[in-house]
Amino acid sequence: MIPSTRWVIMSIIFQMLLVLAGSETLEVRRALVKFMNKISLGNISKEVNFGWDLSSDPCTNKWEGITCDSRNQHVKNIVLDQKNLTGILDASFVCEATSLAVLSLNENEIVGTLPQEISNCRRLTHLYLRGNKLSSNLPSSLSRLSNLKRFVISGNAFSGQIPDMSRISGLITLLAERNQLTGQIPEFDFSNLVEFNVSYNNLTGPIPDVKGQFSSSSFSGNPGLCGVPLPSICPPSPPPPPHPVAKEKKVSYFIYLGYAILGLIIILLLVWKLFKCIRKKKSNSTPMDHNKTISSSGVTKTPKNRSEYSITSSPENSMLSASFEILSSPLANKLRFEDLLRAPAELIGKGKHGSVYKVNVDGVTLVVKRISGWNISKDDFKKRMQRIHRMKHPHVLPLVAFYSSKQEKLTVYKYQQNGSLFKHLHSSQGSQVFDWASRLAIASSLSEALAFMHEGLQNDDIPHGNMKSTNILLNDDMEACIGEYGLMPNNQDQSFVAQSDHSMREDDSVAITARNAFNMDIYSFGVILLELLTGKPVQASGYDLSRWVNSVVRAEWTGEVFDKSLITDGANEERMINLLHVAFKCINTSPDARPNMKEVAFIINSIKEDEEKSVSAFS
Ligand SMILES: *[C@@H]1O[C@H](CO)[C@@H](O)[C@H](O)[C@H]1NC(C)=O
Ligand SMILES: *[C@@H]1O[C@H](CO)[C@@H](O)[C@H](O)[C@H]1NC(C)=O
Ligand SMILES: *[C@@H]1O[C@H](CO)[C@@H](O)[C@H](O)[C@H]1NC(C)=O
Ligand SMILES: *[C@@H]1O[C@H](CO)[C@@H](O)[C@H](O)[C@H]1NC(C)=O
Repeated sequence: MIPSTRWVIMSIIFQMLLVLAGSETLEVRRALVKFMNKISLGNISKEVNFGWDLSSDPCTNKWEGITCDSRNQHVKNIVLDQKNLTGILDASFVCEATSLAVLSLNENEIVGTLPQEISNCRRLTHLYLRGNKLSSNLPSSLSRLSNLKRFVISGNAFSGQIPDMSRISGLITLLAERNQLTGQIPEFDFSNLVEFNVSYNNLTGPIPDVKGQFSSSSFSGNPGLCGVPLPSICPPSPPPPPHPVAKEKKVSYFIYLGYAILGLIIILLLVWKLFKCIRKKKSNSTPMDHNKTISSSGVTKTPKNRSEYSITSSPENSMLSASFEILSSPLANKLRFEDLLRAPAELIGKGKHGSVYKVNVDGVTLVVKRISGWNISKDDFKKRMQRIHRMKHPHVLPLVAFYSSKQEKLTVYKYQQNGSLFKHLHSSQGSQVFDWASRLAIASSLSEALAFMHEGLQNDDIPHGNMKSTNILLNDDMEACIGEYGLMPNNQDQSFVAQSDHSMREDDSVAITARNAFNMDIYSFGVILLELLTGKPVQASGYDLSRWVNSVVRAEWTGEVFDKSLITDGANEERMINLLHVAFKCINTSPDARPNMKEVAFIINSIKEDEEKSVSAFS
């Protein structure tokens, strides 16, 4: 038997033994490792996974913080108090451990929300989240945790209302003091509760009957609360408004009438639209409309000068169906496609996916990208551009106009004279220091912009497709904007293999696969973070930088990866390491382990907040 086969068989036997021993399945272990990955996001250290490792067993190998049932088969308790966890609580992963009864994450720096999926932890009896940075609303699904006994969320930043937990009969502890909860206190079975504290929130209205169980110290610090046991007396409540049945009937009658009229209007509109369409079709058979229909031959090269190109039109062969659409015009809608074509254009970039021209029209400098090698129909392209345009974000460069015909696809942006992030980071004459605070600000605004676009365009399946520092442009205020969003064909199941012929430290070849192109954006964003941190350019395909950083960190020279100018500038190394760790999570070779952009944005913002706090503390 050749050794490798023997090895495979041995490992299969080993796996079978694990299964026979009845411990958690591979799926559960994988989910737990992902939970750990996410909750430790933003913290880099060798022991950061606390021994939570796929190759071992959570019960028999004693993953830190885990205790199992008496037969060492199922994870029952996860206690990770005071572990400097700075990431996100992903309940859908941790709840795959279906026997989980205790989840305790007190005194960490966990950010984000308490997700709805927490109710998947059906057997949960104790949930401790005291002293973290959790925020936004408590999930309504809490009311479904029917086995819950103790629920502690003191000292976070939760807002919104306290969900109704009155049906959880066994609840004995609810500690929610020092948050930003609002609204009224819902009914609780106060006679069963042993501990209850909602002080120092922003709750309002009358306190329900606490059956003499709790004193005012459980309710103080809520200026809007009134009634026993607080000294403030509630104002008499107004009598409930009368509910005459006849009146209700009358109202519903009017509602139905309203629907009928609305329906009629919609039908009339549709008929009218149809009518108009037919007429338009007929009139389309007359030659052309100069404002809208343009040469399909589009962009042609003038041989005069090698770098001077001119985009000229020949209206004689106009394609009737081509569309030129102005979306947001710096020329106040005066821009016509002919002007664009006739204006002198300078080729400023050329690649596999198209050429980029700088065009000056009536004193406004524009950038025209001529897209090539993309088999997209003109209507699909048009729809896509219109869809992207509807997603407006201050850190996404808006489309000025686009042109879509069968042969030609052009997009028009305003020219950004401050150039790209790439240029700013790597230009040799960049004498002014690009300091840590501005790099962190750029990372933060880019992550938010990309998260916003991903969320809005997920259903339309439009990722950026080509995130790189040359596509990040600096506007007049030196703020970073994402350019060229969605100008790439979606390649599902992309697979990138790193080339290994560079002078940097040699490593095992890294194959990066993206489950989908959104995931690839996250990878590319991680690479941009590495560029911001190291000040080093990404070579060729972009995978060399990450391998270099990986190898340096693995050799425990983490400090060596950072841009020297940041170190000499006195940037906070802990926060740089935190950001580096976020980058690592983004460039994880397994796409599943990557956080989504919303989570990335959350973490980067919390790093930025820490930075701002410490700066204001010093000044
Ligand atoms: C990361 O976690 C470890 C504990 O494993 C801790 O010692 C370290 O200080 C943490 N680092 C940061 C930057 O929070
Ligand atoms: C967390 O970080 C603090 C300071 O960075 C350190 O003193 C402490 O030991 C860390 N905790 C753990 C569990 O590593
Ligand atoms: C509390 O709520 C009131 C309105 O309900 C609001 O005006 C006030 O700013 C809130 N206070 C805090 C500290 O959130
Ligand atoms: C409730 O919490 C506040 C703030 O932490 C504390 O001062 C008070 O003693 C607590 N009351 C009870 C009854 O635990």
